[in-house]
Amino acid sequence: TDRFVASLAEVDAAAAHTHRVQDRTAEPAPGLTSGFGNTPDTDPAIGVNREWGRAILERVPDSVLGITTADAAILPDEAAVHAALERAQGAAAAWQELGPDGRAQILHRAGDALERRRAQLLEVMASEAGKTLDQGDPEVSEAIDFAHYYAERARELPGIDGATYTPADVTLVTPPWNFPVAIPAGSTLSALASGSTVVIKPARQARRCGAVMVEALWEAGVPREVLQLVQLADSALGEKLVASPLVDQVILTGGYETAEMFRGFRSDLRLLGETSGKNAIIVTPSADLDLAAKDVVYSAFGHAGQKCSAASLVILVGSVAKSRRFHDQLLDAVRSLHVALPTDPTAEVGPVIAPPTGKLREALTSLGEGETWVIEPRQLPEDERLWTPGVRAGVRRGSEYHLIEYFGPILGVMTAATLDEAIAIQNEISYGLTAGIHALDAGEIRTWLAGIQAGNLYVNRGITGAIVQRQPFGGWKKSVVGAGFKAGGPNYLIGLGRWADAPVTG
Ligand code: SER
Repeated sequence: TDRFVASLAEVDAAAAHTHRVQDRTAEPAPGLTSGFGNTPDTDPAIGVNREWGRAILERVPDSVLGITTADAAILPDEAAVHAALERAQGAAAAWQELGPDGRAQILHRAGDALERRRAQLLEVMASEAGKTLDQGDPEVSEAIDFAHYYAERARELPGIDGATYTPADVTLVTPPWNFPVAIPAGSTLSALASGSTVVIKPARQARRCGAVMVEALWEAGVPREVLQLVQLADSALGEKLVASPLVDQVILTGGYETAEMFRGFRSDLRLLGETSGKNAIIVTPSADLDLAAKDVVYSAFGHAGQKCSAASLVILVGSVAKSRRFHDQLLDAVRSLHVALPTDPTAEVGPVIAPPTGKLREALTSLGEGETWVIEPRQLPEDERLWTPGVRAGVRRGSEYHLIEYFGPILGVMTAATLDEAIAIQNEISYGLTAGIHALDAGEIRTWLAGIQAGNLYVNRGITGAIVQRQPFGGWKKSVVGAGFKAGGPNYLIGLGRWADAPVTG
Protein backbone atom coordinates (compact mmCIF):
# COMPACT_ATOMS: atom_id res chain seq x y z
CA THR A 1 0.00 0.00 0.00
CA ASP A 2 1.02 3.65 -0.24
CA ARG A 3 1.41 3.80 3.48
CA PHE A 4 3.79 0.85 3.41
CA VAL A 5 5.97 2.44 0.77
CA ALA A 6 5.98 5.81 2.48
CA SER A 7 6.99 4.29 5.79
CA LEU A 8 9.82 2.28 4.35
CA ALA A 9 11.16 5.33 2.56
CA GLU A 10 11.28 7.08 5.88
CA VAL A 11 13.10 4.17 7.41
CA ASP A 12 15.66 4.35 4.63
CA ALA A 13 16.12 8.02 5.35
CA ALA A 14 16.63 7.25 9.02
CA ALA A 15 19.08 4.48 8.10
CA ALA A 16 21.28 6.96 6.31
CA HIS A 17 21.83 8.76 9.59
CA THR A 18 22.69 5.94 11.91
CA HIS A 19 24.95 3.01 11.36
CA ARG A 20 22.94 0.98 13.82
CA VAL A 21 19.84 0.70 11.68
CA GLN A 22 19.91 -2.50 9.72
CA ASP A 23 19.02 -2.89 6.11
CA ARG A 24 15.90 -4.96 5.77
CA THR A 25 16.98 -6.96 2.79
CA ALA A 26 18.41 -10.46 2.87
CA GLU A 27 20.31 -9.78 -0.34
CA PRO A 28 24.09 -9.91 -0.13
CA ALA A 29 26.13 -6.75 -0.48
CA PRO A 30 27.50 -6.07 -3.99
CA GLY A 31 30.24 -8.52 -4.90
CA LEU A 32 29.49 -10.85 -2.00
CA THR A 33 27.48 -14.05 -1.97
CA SER A 34 25.71 -14.45 1.35
CA GLY A 35 21.99 -14.32 1.87
CA PHE A 36 19.72 -17.21 1.30
CA GLY A 37 19.09 -19.68 -1.45
CA ASN A 38 22.34 -19.01 -3.23
CA THR A 39 23.04 -22.53 -4.42
CA PRO A 40 22.08 -23.69 -7.92
CA ASP A 41 18.47 -24.74 -8.47
CA THR A 42 17.43 -23.75 -5.01
CA ASP A 43 14.37 -25.41 -3.60
CA PRO A 44 12.67 -22.47 -1.87
CA ALA A 45 11.17 -24.76 0.74
CA ILE A 46 14.55 -25.66 2.18
CA GLY A 47 16.82 -22.93 0.85
CA VAL A 48 19.19 -25.25 -1.03
CA ASN A 49 19.06 -27.69 -3.88
CA ARG A 50 17.33 -30.74 -2.53
CA GLU A 51 19.13 -33.43 -4.51
CA TRP A 52 22.50 -31.84 -3.97
CA GLY A 53 21.74 -31.59 -0.27
CA ARG A 54 20.66 -35.20 -0.10
CA ALA A 55 23.86 -36.34 -1.77
CA ILE A 56 25.95 -34.45 0.78
CA LEU A 57 24.00 -35.66 3.72
CA GLU A 58 24.14 -39.28 2.67
CA ARG A 59 27.82 -39.11 3.47
CA VAL A 60 27.33 -37.75 6.97
CA PRO A 61 27.44 -41.00 8.93
CA ASP A 62 30.87 -41.79 7.46
CA SER A 63 32.28 -38.33 7.66
CA VAL A 64 33.25 -38.13 11.27
CA LEU A 65 36.42 -40.11 10.88
CA GLY A 66 37.09 -38.81 7.39
CA ILE A 67 38.80 -35.58 8.30
CA THR A 68 42.16 -36.13 9.83
CA THR A 69 44.66 -34.21 7.75
CA ALA A 70 43.95 -30.92 9.47
CA ASP A 71 43.69 -32.29 12.96
CA ALA A 72 44.68 -29.79 15.57
CA ALA A 73 47.93 -29.84 17.45
CA ILE A 74 47.00 -31.03 20.92
CA LEU A 75 48.89 -28.90 23.39
CA PRO A 76 49.67 -31.15 26.34
CA ASP A 77 51.15 -28.66 28.79
CA GLU A 78 52.16 -25.08 29.44
CA ALA A 79 55.46 -25.48 27.59
CA ALA A 80 53.60 -26.55 24.45
CA VAL A 81 51.22 -23.59 24.76
CA HIS A 82 54.22 -21.30 25.04
CA ALA A 83 55.96 -22.91 22.07
CA ALA A 84 52.88 -22.51 19.84
CA LEU A 85 52.58 -18.84 20.75
CA GLU A 86 56.29 -18.30 20.17
CA ARG A 87 55.95 -19.82 16.70
CA ALA A 88 53.08 -17.43 15.96
CA GLN A 89 55.06 -14.48 17.24
CA GLY A 90 58.08 -15.49 15.21
CA ALA A 91 55.99 -15.63 12.04
CA ALA A 92 54.44 -12.18 12.50
CA ALA A 93 57.16 -10.06 10.88
CA ALA A 94 57.09 -11.94 7.57
CA TRP A 95 53.28 -11.90 7.49
CA GLN A 96 53.27 -8.16 8.07
CA GLU A 97 55.95 -7.61 5.44
CA LEU A 98 53.67 -9.17 2.85
CA GLY A 99 51.61 -6.01 3.13
CA PRO A 100 47.86 -5.59 2.76
CA ASP A 101 47.89 -6.44 -0.94
CA GLY A 102 49.87 -9.63 -0.49
CA ARG A 103 47.63 -10.72 2.33
CA ALA A 104 44.50 -9.74 0.39
CA GLN A 105 45.51 -12.03 -2.46
CA ILE A 106 45.83 -14.95 -0.08
CA LEU A 107 42.56 -14.07 1.61
CA HIS A 108 40.69 -13.97 -1.69
CA ARG A 109 42.14 -17.40 -2.44
CA ALA A 110 40.91 -18.48 1.00
CA GLY A 111 37.40 -17.43 0.02
CA ASP A 112 37.67 -19.56 -3.11
CA ALA A 113 39.02 -22.51 -1.11
CA LEU A 114 36.07 -22.28 1.29
CA GLU A 115 33.71 -22.26 -1.68
CA ARG A 116 35.38 -25.39 -3.07
CA ARG A 117 34.85 -27.04 0.29
CA ARG A 118 31.21 -26.01 0.64
CA ALA A 119 29.95 -29.58 0.52
CA GLN A 120 32.56 -30.81 2.97
CA LEU A 121 31.78 -27.95 5.35
CA LEU A 122 28.04 -28.67 5.17
CA GLU A 123 28.70 -32.30 5.83
CA VAL A 124 30.85 -31.70 8.87
CA MET A 125 28.55 -29.00 10.25
CA ALA A 126 25.66 -31.43 10.04
CA SER A 127 27.48 -34.40 11.49
CA GLU A 128 29.35 -32.65 14.23
CA ALA A 129 27.28 -29.60 15.19
CA GLY A 130 23.78 -30.67 14.12
CA LYS A 131 23.36 -27.89 11.55
CA THR A 132 20.50 -28.37 9.15
CA LEU A 133 21.24 -27.72 5.51
CA ASP A 134 19.15 -24.55 5.31
CA GLN A 135 21.21 -23.07 8.16
CA GLY A 136 24.59 -24.43 7.15
CA ASP A 137 24.51 -23.21 3.56
CA PRO A 138 24.18 -19.47 4.26
CA GLU A 139 26.78 -19.93 6.99
CA VAL A 140 29.34 -21.16 4.46
CA SER A 141 28.47 -18.17 2.27
CA GLU A 142 29.05 -15.87 5.21
CA ALA A 143 32.50 -17.38 5.81
CA ILE A 144 33.40 -16.86 2.15
CA ASP A 145 32.15 -13.28 2.29
CA PHE A 146 34.31 -12.57 5.33
CA ALA A 147 37.37 -13.62 3.31
CA HIS A 148 36.68 -11.31 0.38
CA TYR A 149 35.36 -8.49 2.54
CA TYR A 150 38.25 -8.32 5.00
CA ALA A 151 40.77 -8.70 2.17
CA GLU A 152 39.46 -5.47 0.65
CA ARG A 153 39.09 -3.64 3.95
CA ALA A 154 42.75 -4.36 4.73
CA ARG A 155 43.79 -2.63 1.53
CA GLU A 156 41.91 0.47 2.63
CA LEU A 157 43.54 0.85 6.01
CA PRO A 158 45.72 3.90 5.64
CA GLY A 159 49.27 3.20 6.62
CA ILE A 160 48.46 -0.24 7.84
CA ASP A 161 52.11 -1.24 7.75
CA GLY A 162 53.43 2.21 8.39
CA ALA A 163 53.72 4.34 11.45
CA THR A 164 50.05 4.91 12.07
CA TYR A 165 48.57 1.43 12.21
CA THR A 166 50.42 -1.32 13.99
CA PRO A 167 48.94 -4.79 13.68
CA ALA A 168 48.96 -7.08 16.68
CA ASP A 169 51.56 -9.84 16.41
CA VAL A 170 49.46 -12.69 17.83
CA THR A 171 45.69 -12.93 18.02
CA LEU A 172 44.07 -15.79 19.92
CA VAL A 173 40.70 -16.79 18.44
CA THR A 174 38.21 -18.70 20.61
CA PRO A 175 35.01 -19.25 18.64
CA PRO A 176 31.74 -20.92 19.70
CA TRP A 177 30.13 -24.14 18.49
CA ASN A 178 26.87 -22.63 17.24
CA PHE A 179 28.30 -20.99 14.12
CA PRO A 180 31.15 -23.47 13.81
CA VAL A 181 32.41 -22.21 10.44
CA ALA A 182 31.39 -18.57 9.91
CA ILE A 183 32.51 -17.24 13.29
CA PRO A 184 35.90 -19.02 13.43
CA ALA A 185 36.44 -17.98 9.79
CA GLY A 186 35.40 -14.38 10.30
CA SER A 187 37.53 -13.92 13.41
CA THR A 188 40.56 -15.62 11.86
CA LEU A 189 40.31 -13.87 8.49
CA SER A 190 39.92 -10.43 10.06
CA ALA A 191 43.00 -10.87 12.21
CA LEU A 192 45.02 -12.26 9.29
CA ALA A 193 43.92 -9.39 7.06
CA SER A 194 44.99 -6.88 9.68
CA GLY A 195 48.50 -8.35 9.68
CA SER A 196 48.30 -10.47 12.82
CA THR A 197 49.10 -14.14 13.13
CA VAL A 198 46.41 -16.37 14.63
CA VAL A 199 46.25 -19.20 17.11
CA ILE A 200 42.75 -20.66 16.94
CA LYS A 201 41.20 -23.06 19.42
CA PRO A 202 37.86 -24.20 18.00
CA ALA A 203 35.07 -25.08 20.38
CA ARG A 204 35.35 -28.61 21.75
CA GLN A 205 31.96 -29.53 20.20
CA ALA A 206 32.98 -28.31 16.74
CA ARG A 207 36.63 -29.20 16.35
CA ARG A 208 36.32 -30.74 12.94
CA CYS A 209 34.37 -27.80 11.56
CA GLY A 210 37.20 -25.55 12.69
CA ALA A 211 39.76 -27.95 11.26
CA VAL A 212 38.21 -28.02 7.78
CA MET A 213 37.98 -24.22 7.78
CA VAL A 214 41.64 -23.90 8.77
CA GLU A 215 42.68 -26.50 6.23
CA ALA A 216 41.02 -24.41 3.49
CA LEU A 217 43.03 -21.38 4.58
CA TRP A 218 46.29 -23.35 4.61
CA GLU A 219 45.45 -24.65 1.16
CA ALA A 220 45.00 -21.04 0.02
CA GLY A 221 48.52 -20.16 1.11
CA VAL A 222 48.27 -19.01 4.72
CA PRO A 223 51.46 -20.44 6.28
CA ARG A 224 50.96 -22.92 9.11
CA GLU A 225 52.98 -20.89 11.59
CA VAL A 226 50.85 -17.85 10.76
CA LEU A 227 47.63 -19.78 11.39
CA GLN A 228 47.90 -22.45 14.05
CA LEU A 229 45.08 -24.80 14.93
CA VAL A 230 45.25 -26.03 18.50
CA GLN A 231 43.30 -27.95 21.09
CA LEU A 232 44.13 -28.17 24.76
CA ALA A 233 44.69 -31.53 26.36
CA ASP A 234 43.39 -30.16 29.62
CA SER A 235 40.88 -27.35 30.12
CA ALA A 236 43.03 -25.78 32.86
CA LEU A 237 45.50 -24.90 30.10
CA GLY A 238 42.96 -22.39 28.81
CA GLU A 239 44.08 -19.97 31.48
CA LYS A 240 47.74 -20.38 30.44
CA LEU A 241 46.82 -19.70 26.84
CA VAL A 242 44.67 -16.62 27.47
CA ALA A 243 46.95 -15.18 30.14
CA SER A 244 50.19 -15.58 28.19
CA PRO A 245 51.96 -12.27 27.56
CA LEU A 246 52.68 -13.57 24.04
CA VAL A 247 48.97 -13.12 23.23
CA ASP A 248 48.36 -9.54 22.07
CA GLN A 249 44.59 -9.82 21.87
CA VAL A 250 41.76 -12.32 22.04
CA ILE A 251 38.73 -12.51 19.75
CA LEU A 252 36.11 -14.36 21.75
CA THR A 253 32.57 -15.21 20.76
CA GLY A 254 30.82 -16.93 23.61
CA GLY A 255 29.00 -16.43 26.89
CA TYR A 256 29.30 -13.28 28.97
CA GLU A 257 30.65 -15.38 31.85
CA THR A 258 33.42 -16.76 29.64
CA ALA A 259 34.47 -13.22 28.73
CA GLU A 260 34.53 -12.27 32.40
CA MET A 261 36.57 -15.38 33.17
CA PHE A 262 39.08 -14.42 30.46
CA ARG A 263 39.43 -10.98 31.98
CA GLY A 264 39.94 -12.61 35.34
CA PHE A 265 42.88 -14.54 33.87
CA ARG A 266 44.62 -11.32 32.90
CA SER A 267 43.47 -7.87 33.93
CA ASP A 268 45.14 -6.02 31.03
CA LEU A 269 43.77 -8.41 28.41
CA ARG A 270 42.88 -6.77 25.11
CA LEU A 271 39.61 -8.50 24.34
CA LEU A 272 37.12 -8.28 21.50
CA GLY A 273 34.25 -10.21 23.01
CA GLU A 274 30.88 -10.78 21.40
CA THR A 275 28.82 -12.32 24.16
CA SER A 276 25.32 -13.39 25.14
CA GLY A 277 21.96 -12.13 23.93
CA LYS A 278 18.34 -12.25 25.01
CA ASN A 279 16.55 -10.75 22.09
CA ALA A 280 12.99 -9.67 21.43
CA ILE A 281 10.85 -8.72 18.47
CA ILE A 282 8.10 -6.15 19.08
CA VAL A 283 4.94 -6.41 16.98
CA THR A 284 2.67 -3.37 16.88
CA PRO A 285 -0.90 -3.11 15.56
CA SER A 286 0.38 -1.36 12.40
CA ALA A 287 2.50 -4.40 11.44
CA ASP A 288 2.04 -6.76 8.53
CA LEU A 289 1.07 -9.54 10.90
CA ASP A 290 1.67 -12.39 8.44
CA LEU A 291 5.21 -11.23 7.81
CA ALA A 292 5.74 -10.66 11.51
CA ALA A 293 4.68 -14.22 12.36
CA LYS A 294 7.01 -15.65 9.71
CA ASP A 295 10.00 -13.59 10.88
CA VAL A 296 9.38 -14.35 14.56
CA VAL A 297 9.23 -18.08 13.89
CA TYR A 298 12.40 -18.17 11.82
CA SER A 299 14.28 -15.94 14.27
CA ALA A 300 13.19 -18.01 17.25
CA PHE A 301 13.62 -21.53 15.94
CA GLY A 302 16.27 -21.48 13.21
CA HIS A 303 19.15 -23.71 14.41
CA ALA A 304 16.83 -24.72 17.25
CA GLY A 305 17.16 -21.25 18.78
CA GLN A 306 20.88 -21.70 19.37
CA LYS A 307 22.00 -18.31 18.08
CA CYS A 308 23.11 -15.39 20.18
CA SER A 309 20.97 -13.35 17.78
CA ALA A 310 17.82 -15.51 18.14
CA ALA A 311 14.42 -14.15 19.14
CA SER A 312 13.65 -15.53 22.56
CA LEU A 313 10.74 -13.15 23.16
CA VAL A 314 7.98 -11.60 21.12
CA ILE A 315 6.32 -8.56 22.67
CA LEU A 316 2.81 -7.93 21.41
CA VAL A 317 1.63 -4.35 21.62
CA GLY A 318 -2.02 -3.38 22.26
CA SER A 319 -4.55 -5.15 20.07
CA VAL A 320 -1.98 -7.58 18.62
CA ALA A 321 -2.18 -9.50 21.89
CA LYS A 322 -5.79 -10.36 21.06
CA SER A 323 -5.35 -10.75 17.31
CA ARG A 324 -6.75 -14.12 16.32
CA ARG A 325 -5.00 -13.78 12.97
CA PHE A 326 -1.53 -13.31 14.45
CA HIS A 327 -2.12 -16.02 17.04
CA ASP A 328 -3.24 -18.56 14.44
CA GLN A 329 -0.46 -17.71 11.99
CA LEU A 330 2.19 -17.98 14.66
CA LEU A 331 1.00 -21.25 16.13
CA ASP A 332 0.33 -22.87 12.77
CA ALA A 333 3.80 -21.93 11.63
CA VAL A 334 5.44 -23.29 14.79
CA ARG A 335 3.47 -26.55 14.63
CA SER A 336 4.36 -27.06 10.99
CA LEU A 337 8.12 -26.85 11.55
CA HIS A 338 9.82 -30.09 10.60
CA VAL A 339 11.96 -31.25 13.51
CA ALA A 340 14.54 -33.82 12.45
CA LEU A 341 18.21 -34.69 12.45
CA PRO A 342 20.15 -32.85 9.77
CA THR A 343 20.57 -36.04 7.77
CA ASP A 344 17.05 -35.21 6.60
CA PRO A 345 17.50 -32.44 4.01
CA THR A 346 14.05 -31.07 4.78
CA ALA A 347 14.78 -30.62 8.51
CA GLU A 348 13.96 -27.08 9.65
CA VAL A 349 14.65 -27.47 13.35
CA GLY A 350 17.60 -29.71 14.09
CA PRO A 351 18.96 -31.02 17.38
CA VAL A 352 20.21 -28.99 20.30
CA ILE A 353 23.95 -29.46 20.74
CA ALA A 354 23.60 -31.88 23.68
CA PRO A 355 20.73 -33.41 25.65
CA PRO A 356 19.46 -30.39 27.60
CA THR A 357 20.48 -30.01 31.23
CA GLY A 358 20.31 -27.23 33.79
CA LYS A 359 18.55 -23.99 32.87
CA LEU A 360 17.69 -25.05 29.34
CA ARG A 361 16.05 -28.25 30.54
CA GLU A 362 14.08 -26.25 33.11
CA ALA A 363 12.92 -23.83 30.44
CA LEU A 364 11.81 -26.72 28.22
CA THR A 365 9.99 -28.57 30.96
CA SER A 366 8.63 -26.06 33.47
CA LEU A 367 6.85 -22.71 33.60
CA GLY A 368 7.26 -19.59 35.69
CA GLU A 369 4.48 -17.97 37.66
CA GLY A 370 1.54 -16.94 35.49
CA GLU A 371 2.94 -18.66 32.38
CA THR A 372 1.12 -21.21 30.23
CA TRP A 373 2.25 -23.40 27.36
CA VAL A 374 0.57 -22.40 24.15
CA ILE A 375 2.65 -25.12 22.55
CA GLU A 376 4.48 -27.40 24.94
CA PRO A 377 7.91 -28.60 23.81
CA ARG A 378 8.34 -32.34 23.48
CA GLN A 379 11.46 -34.47 23.35
CA LEU A 380 11.26 -36.79 20.36
CA PRO A 381 11.82 -40.48 21.04
CA GLU A 382 14.41 -40.96 18.29
CA ASP A 383 17.04 -38.65 19.78
CA GLU A 384 17.44 -36.96 23.16
CA ARG A 385 18.61 -33.79 21.43
CA LEU A 386 15.51 -33.35 19.29
CA TRP A 387 12.82 -31.13 20.78
CA THR A 388 9.71 -29.76 19.14
CA PRO A 389 9.62 -25.98 19.57
CA GLY A 390 7.73 -24.52 22.52
CA VAL A 391 5.79 -21.30 22.94
CA ARG A 392 4.99 -19.96 26.40
CA ALA A 393 2.57 -17.12 27.02
CA GLY A 394 2.11 -14.91 30.05
CA VAL A 395 5.81 -14.22 30.59
CA ARG A 396 5.98 -11.55 33.30
CA ARG A 397 8.25 -8.54 33.49
CA GLY A 398 11.26 -9.27 35.65
CA SER A 399 10.73 -13.06 35.54
CA GLU A 400 13.56 -15.49 34.81
CA TYR A 401 12.25 -16.19 31.34
CA HIS A 402 12.15 -12.47 30.56
CA LEU A 403 15.77 -11.88 31.51
CA ILE A 404 17.84 -15.06 31.02
CA GLU A 405 19.41 -16.41 27.83
CA TYR A 406 18.49 -20.08 27.25
CA PHE A 407 19.84 -20.97 23.79
CA GLY A 408 17.15 -23.44 22.78
CA PRO A 409 13.89 -23.86 20.85
CA ILE A 410 11.59 -21.79 23.06
CA LEU A 411 9.76 -18.55 22.46
CA GLY A 412 8.13 -16.49 25.21
CA VAL A 413 5.20 -14.20 24.54
CA MET A 414 4.86 -10.95 26.47
CA THR A 415 2.29 -8.20 26.07
CA ALA A 416 2.50 -4.43 26.44
CA ALA A 417 -0.24 -1.82 26.42
CA THR A 418 1.88 0.65 24.46
CA LEU A 419 5.01 0.73 22.33
CA ASP A 420 6.79 2.66 25.08
CA GLU A 421 6.03 -0.14 27.50
CA ALA A 422 7.31 -2.71 25.00
CA ILE A 423 10.55 -0.77 24.61
CA ALA A 424 10.93 -0.60 28.39
CA ILE A 425 10.41 -4.38 28.61
CA GLN A 426 13.14 -4.92 26.04
CA ASN A 427 15.54 -2.48 27.64
CA GLU A 428 15.22 -4.10 31.07
CA ILE A 429 17.23 -7.02 29.73
CA SER A 430 20.89 -6.68 30.66
CA TYR A 431 22.02 -7.83 27.20
CA GLY A 432 21.57 -5.85 24.00
CA LEU A 433 22.60 -7.82 20.95
CA THR A 434 19.79 -7.85 18.38
CA ALA A 435 16.30 -6.37 18.49
CA GLY A 436 13.45 -6.22 16.03
CA ILE A 437 10.26 -4.35 15.36
CA HIS A 438 7.45 -5.16 13.02
CA ALA A 439 5.49 -1.98 12.35
CA LEU A 440 4.46 -0.09 9.25
CA ASP A 441 3.92 3.19 11.03
CA ALA A 442 6.94 5.42 10.51
CA GLY A 443 6.41 7.24 13.79
CA GLU A 444 6.47 3.98 15.72
CA ILE A 445 9.63 2.92 13.96
CA ARG A 446 11.31 6.22 14.79
CA THR A 447 10.28 5.97 18.43
CA TRP A 448 11.67 2.46 18.65
CA LEU A 449 14.94 3.33 16.92
CA ALA A 450 15.47 6.24 19.28
CA GLY A 451 14.75 4.25 22.41
CA ILE A 452 15.99 0.72 21.98
CA GLN A 453 19.24 -0.47 23.52
CA ALA A 454 20.77 -3.11 21.25
CA GLY A 455 23.61 -3.39 18.76
CA ASN A 456 21.77 -4.70 15.72
CA LEU A 457 18.34 -3.28 15.03
CA TYR A 458 16.12 -4.86 12.41
CA VAL A 459 12.95 -3.28 11.04
CA ASN A 460 10.37 -5.56 9.40
CA ARG A 461 12.89 -8.38 9.04
CA GLY A 462 13.96 -11.35 11.14
CA ILE A 463 16.70 -10.63 13.67
CA THR A 464 19.18 -13.40 12.82
CA GLY A 465 21.44 -13.83 9.82
CA ALA A 466 23.32 -10.54 9.69
CA ILE A 467 24.85 -10.13 6.25
CA VAL A 468 28.51 -9.23 5.87
CA GLN A 469 28.99 -5.54 5.02
CA ARG A 470 25.24 -4.79 4.97
CA GLN A 471 24.70 -5.54 8.63
CA PRO A 472 27.88 -5.29 10.71
CA PHE A 473 27.28 -7.41 13.78
CA GLY A 474 27.90 -6.62 17.41
CA GLY A 475 26.17 -5.79 20.64
CA TRP A 476 25.66 -3.32 23.41
CA LYS A 477 25.43 -3.63 27.21
CA LYS A 478 26.39 -7.15 28.40
CA SER A 479 26.42 -8.47 24.83
CA VAL A 480 29.83 -6.95 24.31
CA VAL A 481 32.90 -7.24 26.48
CA GLY A 482 35.99 -5.26 25.58
CA ALA A 483 36.37 -3.32 22.35
CA GLY A 484 32.97 -3.06 20.65
CA PHE A 485 33.87 -3.15 16.99
CA LYS A 486 31.31 -4.78 14.72
CA ALA A 487 32.22 -7.92 12.82
CA GLY A 488 31.72 -7.73 9.06
CA GLY A 489 31.80 -3.93 9.20
CA PRO A 490 34.26 -1.24 8.16
CA ASN A 491 35.72 -0.63 11.63
CA TYR A 492 36.56 -4.18 12.61
CA LEU A 493 40.09 -4.26 11.21
CA ILE A 494 40.69 -0.79 12.56
CA GLY A 495 39.82 -2.15 15.99
CA LEU A 496 42.25 -5.05 15.67
CA GLY A 497 45.34 -2.88 15.38
CA ARG A 498 46.90 -0.17 17.43
CA TRP A 499 46.87 3.42 16.29
CA ALA A 500 49.58 5.81 17.20
CA ASP A 501 47.50 8.96 16.91
CA ALA A 502 43.73 9.53 16.98
CA PRO A 503 41.64 7.12 18.98
CA VAL A 504 39.05 5.29 16.89
CA THR A 505 35.68 4.29 18.25
CA GLY A 506 33.53 1.32 17.29
N1 SER B 1 25.88 -13.25 12.97
C1 SER B 1 24.88 -14.17 13.43
C2 SER B 1 23.52 -13.68 13.15
O1 SER B 1 23.35 -12.54 12.78
C3 SER B 1 25.01 -14.44 14.89
O2 SER B 1 26.30 -14.69 15.26
O3 SER B 1 22.59 -14.42 13.32
